[in-house]
Amino acid sequence: MSWASWSEKYATGHAGMDQGHRRLMELINQLADAMESNKPMSFCSDLLERFIEHTRMHFLAEEQLMDRIRYPKAKEHKALHEMLVTDVLAFKASYDSGTTAQFVTLLVILDCWLERDISAADKELADFVAVPH
Ligand SMILES: [Fe+2]
Ligand SMILES: [Fe+2]
Repeated sequence: MSWASWSEKYATGHAGMDQGHRRLMELINQLADAMESNKPMSFCSDLLERFIEHTRMHFLAEEQLMDRIRYPKAKEHKALHEMLVTDVLAFKASYDSGTTAQFVTLLVILDCWLERDISAADKELADFVAVPH
């Protein structure tokens, strides 16, 4: 199963951000494949961990960019990042504890990431960066 494939509609126009989003989508698709084909839990958990690490680095880079340019909407954008990381960490904790974590729960979180962060907040940030201030 492929959760999402990169398409131009996700392009923000900022090369660094777009490259990061592509990479994160690849990791999620790997995770979806692993979970669908019932790979061992430790294998899936490691993939999830890698995704979280990459996400954190990606968010940090965006946040440093926002600070550097004194981005007016930095507070809201950072709060969105924090919410997404918190949700994915909660999913991982429940997955690792062997309880009822369903991959579909993670997909709901990721859909929110795609819609609210990549397609909206990141796009807005990229547009702001593109205009000389
Ligand atoms: Fe992003
Ligand atoms: Fe973002």
